[in-house]
Amino acid sequence: MDFDNKRILLTGATGGIGIAIAKQLAARGAYLTLVGRDQGKLQRLADDLITDTESGKSHSPVIVPADINTQAGRARVAAASELHGIDALINTAGVQAFGLFENQTETQISDVINVNLTATILLTQTLLPLLYRSAQATIVNIGSTFGSIGHPGFVAYCASKFGLRGFTEALRRELSDSDICVHYLAPRATRTTMNSDRVNLMNDALGNAMDDPDEVARAVIAVLQKPHGQRRFLGWPEKLLVKINGLFPGIVDRALGKQLPTIRQFACMDK
Ligand SMILES: NC(=O)c1ccc[n+]([C@@H]2O[C@H](COP(=O)([O-])OP(=O)(O)OC[C@H]3O[C@@H](n4cnc5c(N)ncnc54)[C@H](OP(=O)(O)O)[C@@H]3O)[C@@H](O)[C@H]2O)c1
Repeated sequence: MDFDNKRILLTGATGGIGIAIAKQLAARGAYLTLVGRDQGKLQRLADDLITDTESGKSHSPVIVPADINTQAGRARVAAASELHGIDALINTAGVQAFGLFENQTETQISDVINVNLTATILLTQTLLPLLYRSAQATIVNIGSTFGSIGHPGFVAYCASKFGLRGFTEALRRELSDSDICVHYLAPRATRTTMNSDRVNLMNDALGNAMDDPDEVARAVIAVLQKPHGQRRFLGWPEKLLVKINGLFPGIVDRALGKQLPTIRQFACMDK
């Protein structure tokens, strides 16, 4: 994909990874529509994108404050896309809830499933007729390593990201005879405020590496340029573990079993 003048809609634009993606796309001359719930954060990001660009290429982004969990929010996003056009949809919006499954509230569980999976699926479906109008349309779904490896402490989150991976794969195959290209990109742990102090402490204790959001954004730029749907997993050894878990899940069961006391310790820690 040549980014110059491409119309790209980015959900989760105000998050750590979303901001990094928005900056890299703006610097390449894309027309951005930025979606998040907080109008103030969206406006500050839009202002930054206009003033920060070194390339002199950036266009003034469109901002759409919307809760994608609601039909009204998704309709607002669709109305903006109808008005401004859309060549690519990047589904980045997501929430996480860390803790033992038995202690999670109904609200936490439903919020994770709704934002990461149901709302993302419904928004994609709403925007599909508009994407068909583009000569070369693209959908990128931001998954997670935890969309392939079930991990203690992240039960509902894993369920949502496993679902998102399945959605992406099925949609890619269903649209394989169309001009719409569907990608799945799975970051490993990334330094954003999505991860609470407890998650960061646990990652340190387990020796889990964390990426910078700019690295994830570079990977998004790379998959957007691929002509055929990609399934990309970021980080080493995470991408190997994904393969091992697919072929020999017992090995990963045992490895995570050894880490379980540490995971429990942080999952039960006071916030
Ligand atoms: N950080 C990691 O370690 C990590 C690792 C693997 C995968 N990921 C995935 O990467 C994506 C981005 O994560 P991040 O780290 O950038 O998270 P983040 O900093 O917490 O940002 C989350 C974004 O989602 C938006 N959002 C949440 N609920 C929404 C709703 N109901 N309607 C509209 N927007 C909503 C937030 O907007 P508001 O301004 O409205 O809150 C924010 O822009 C997520 O899908 C996440 O699962 C993250």
